[in-house]
Amino acid sequence: MIRELSGEENALFNEYIDKTRAYFQSSGGAPKAYVHSYGCQQNVSDGEKIQGILQQMGCDFVNSPEDAGIIILNTCAVRENAEDKVFGNVGALKKLKEQNRGLVIAVGGCMVQQKHIAEKLKASYPFVDIVFGTHTMHELPRMLYEKLTGGKGCVNIPDADGMICEGIPTRRNSDIKAYVPIMYGCDNFCSYCVVPYVRGRERSRKAEAIEKEVSELITQGYKEIMLLGQNVNSYGKNIGGTDFAGLLKRLDGFEGEYKLSFMTSHPKDCTKELIDVIADSRHIERHIHLPVQSGSDRILKLMNRRYTVEKYLELVNYAKSRIPDLSLTTDIIVGFPGEGYEDFCQTLELMKKVRYDMAYTFIYSKREGTRAAEMDDPVSDKEKGIWMRELLEVQGQIGLENYQRYIGSTLTVLCEGHDKNKPEYLTGHSRQSIIVRFAGEESLIGSFVKVKVTKAMPWAVEGELIN
Ligand code: 5AD
Ligand code: SF4
Repeated sequence: MIRELSGEENALFNEYIDKTRAYFQSSGGAPKAYVHSYGCQQNVSDGEKIQGILQQMGCDFVNSPEDAGIIILNTCAVRENAEDKVFGNVGALKKLKEQNRGLVIAVGGCMVQQKHIAEKLKASYPFVDIVFGTHTMHELPRMLYEKLTGGKGCVNIPDADGMICEGIPTRRNSDIKAYVPIMYGCDNFCSYCVVPYVRGRERSRKAEAIEKEVSELITQGYKEIMLLGQNVNSYGKNIGGTDFAGLLKRLDGFEGEYKLSFMTSHPKDCTKELIDVIADSRHIERHIHLPVQSGSDRILKLMNRRYTVEKYLELVNYAKSRIPDLSLTTDIIVGFPGEGYEDFCQTLELMKKVRYDMAYTFIYSKREGTRAAEMDDPVSDKEKGIWMRELLEVQGQIGLENYQRYIGSTLTVLCEGHDKNKPEYLTGHSRQSIIVRFAGEESLIGSFVKVKVTKAMPWAVEGELIN
């Protein structure tokens, strides 16, 4: 359920923020806070809410845990290597706690929503003060206050089907691009995926609440609004009324210069009507991230994806015909249990047919509690690694060829900052969500510019600014 905090909950939420701020004022000032979010944009967005709460308590933020008095890690559970990284990072905090007994360490998010992980944390990492799940954000002020004022700390992991609240403050990490969750949870139960277990059932926010938030962000000067959900295409199903195509249409109607993007689509729910809305829009990106996961019908069935390669290609072909400059990206899992080399070759075939601009590729990772975890998985990691390299090679070549076709054309680019690899350059994304880098004045950051493409790389293009 998604709802406003009740009067009483709201009063308690604010009371504990006020009490903590007052406590800091009377005890030498608020400590610096370090908040790190792992994983997807949804998690980054949750991290912005955690920061919003801390900011209201009077905290400033630092980029390294060594400089902080409060450390909050907001974790991801989607693959095992993400979890290993978190355990490594949590382990490294022990030393800091020994040097500073007043340091408060909290670990929250998807990973600790799993019972066996919360138990492991409690047993093996006793210096962690607060362990909180994916549905306890509104209780964070109380948990922090109690620990800061001498309490014992807590483990607070209610059932993942719990509610999510409107009205939690947000400290946005960028003043150009804003994340707006439109729904939470997932009902799809793809057999490899832990998300439905840790984020609970699908719950959509009311269209009016989203519309209000987006309108305010545009007025404040945000240039990109990214709508977030595990499967945005099923937006509205649990509340009736506006569906995702309808929501996008409403959000496309504001005046001003802005770009609307969204993450993530599920092919089984992506409709032709939605593609029509994108094709006819003024502000929506000409980009769909459409995770296919596999090019083999047999594996798609085992994955419980509920579409066939034929249906997927039909959708892709319709989208390409309606949006000629469409950019398509995807997610692919290599080495799902029972996948053979012939299945993998069908994935390569599909990639050659669709010609994605970019593919995010993952070696299958076994997740406790999912259906795939029970399946036989005879192919070795070494073999899967060889397949992965083959896939990357094929995609790298396709990406490069796709980007080469932009040479000589002019793209509208939202300038987002300096390029990390070439700091003398600026960088941003085009309306097709392609990374574009170019030479230009710093004052252009945060505005839309025109860039004529002169060079293509497998992951980005380079070009010259047009006045
Ligand atoms: N193993 C590997 N990749 C996974 N993903 C989700 N679960 C797993 C898993 N168990 C990938 C999917 C999804 C993306 C966000 O992460 O490709 O689309
Ligand atoms: Fe996981 Fe599938 Fe839901 Fe995506 S749609 S979050 S892959 S269960």
